[in-house]
Amino acid sequence: MKLFLDTANIKEIREAVSWGIISGVTTNPSLMERAKADYKNSIKEICEIVKGPVSAEVLARDAEGMIKEATKLSEIDEHVNIKIPIGKEGLKAIKELSAMGIKTNCTLIFSANQALLAALAGATYVSPFVGRLDDIGNDGMQIVADIMQIFRNYCIESQVIVASVRHPEHVKEAALIGADIATVPFAVLEKMVQHALTDKGIERFLEDAKKAGLKI
Ligand code: E4P
Repeated sequence: MKLFLDTANIKEIREAVSWGIISGVTTNPSLMERAKADYKNSIKEICEIVKGPVSAEVLARDAEGMIKEATKLSEIDEHVNIKIPIGKEGLKAIKELSAMGIKTNCTLIFSANQALLAALAGATYVSPFVGRLDDIGNDGMQIVADIMQIFRNYCIESQVIVASVRHPEHVKEAALIGADIATVPFAVLEKMVQHALTDKGIERFLEDAKKAGLKI
């Protein structure tokens, strides 16, 4: 499974990329707002750091507007893919963009049927939002499992990005289900690295090394 970083924060992206575990980045307008950065310049900078798929979301609500914005965003860098919210206009835009050779990430997916429609329209990626489903008492990961099963049944090539990830368990469950990608906030990534026994183990080894007078 691949891990993408779910942020527009350049410092976080540089740090996570230096760990060697990040192959892409997803952004959305809320993440852009949090990063307080110029939209197009920020996407350009992210692409230069990551050198892998970077999602940038359209703001228009009609297919024509989405296609115009997608064309502009895709000109920023070859790695940019276009986040399009699921919906009738979104499907029309995905169909056209797919014919134009522009990669898309169909976002705000909350059901397996929405994912199926997005894939049939030609989406490169579909992004089910597990955390937001959990928040309303649904089982977000079950939607991911359903989507994976449907895509396997019909050899659908669209890749599943598990989004709205809130904790390390979401990432583990996504991996067990066989999702292609999980897009993870930096704070969750930090939690994934840590374990109390690891910290304790290092402390003990260093104490013993000191006692033994070890030098390298
Ligand atoms: C990524 O593609 C999504 O936009 C993001 O994961 C949404 O996360 P949130 O539900 O925490 O806002």
